[in-house]
Amino acid sequence: MTALDEEAKSELEEIETRLLTEGIYQHYGFDFRDYSMPSLRRRIWKRVFAEGLSTIAGLIEKVLHDSKSMERLLLDLSINTTAMFRDPTFYLRFREKVVPMLRTYPFVRIWHAGCSTGEEVYSMAILLQEEGLYERCRIYATDINEAVLQKAKSGIFPLSTMQENTSNYIAAGGNGTFSDYYTARYDYAIFRPSLRENVVFAQHNLVTDASFNLFNVIFCRNVLIYFNNALQDRVQQLFLQSMEMFGILGLGKKESVRYTGVANQYDEVDAEERLYRRVR
Ligand SMILES: C[S@@+](CC[C@H](N)C(=O)[O-])C[C@H]1O[C@@H](n2cnc3c(N)ncnc32)[C@H](O)[C@@H]1O
Repeated sequence: MTALDEEAKSELEEIETRLLTEGIYQHYGFDFRDYSMPSLRRRIWKRVFAEGLSTIAGLIEKVLHDSKSMERLLLDLSINTTAMFRDPTFYLRFREKVVPMLRTYPFVRIWHAGCSTGEEVYSMAILLQEEGLYERCRIYATDINEAVLQKAKSGIFPLSTMQENTSNYIAAGGNGTFSDYYTARYDYAIFRPSLRENVVFAQHNLVTDASFNLFNVIFCRNVLIYFNNALQDRVQQLFLQSMEMFGILGLGKKESVRYTGVANQYDEVDAEERLYRRVR
């Protein structure tokens, strides 16, 4: 194939991808139109082959006429990789720098946006319990994907991940014994129900849904990386609308407010872990 052929093929692929995301938006209301193109294409091709097809055009026809096929594509498009105390230094800095601020609040509303299967939510609940703050917290954990939320609600995770989770917990400054938080049964770890007592899990789409409360802390880690710059900016506006004055935004190492329209609304609490405080 010549360089010109390659270019034409790539252009066609982009047109088909745009037609697919537009069709999904019009028909199902899920808006992937501003997701970043390279990762979108990779995931779409995976689904094309898994459905036994050979073109994106074929997938357009299939997902628009078969909602089960749409559900499968939805699972491919929402990357759900997560872990307990993922990037432990984030939790360490949160404990050191944010927890003392939260101690001065009588009541704390927290939003985990894009919580996936909930490991991040249970990790933060453990941290807040250890710091004696959990009782005054009301936690909202949301994701676009209903299937991952069902797993999150169950609080049951594979036992095989507990070794990694335990070392993350220790590196995150955990001051108890991690295995006290769950009961091992067969291949699963069943987490203490008290950890989700103050948690509401709900479906929420960061692209199409509005702000639903005002929060003192918003976490959104490893989600915005899948969005293009314009969409990242829109979602940052949504967080700002949902943020109390002096509220904390926790993005983690991979994301930043730096090149978005909200940059001057926040001060840095921790530059490396991208913990910000709303000051304007
Ligand atoms: C890689 S996981 C990150 C999970 C967790 N925050 C962490 O850092 O470990 C990304 C999550 O974002 C969710 N997501 C993707 N697009 C979304 C959207 N438009 N609205 C809400 N959640 C979305 C996916 O379903 C997925 O569960």
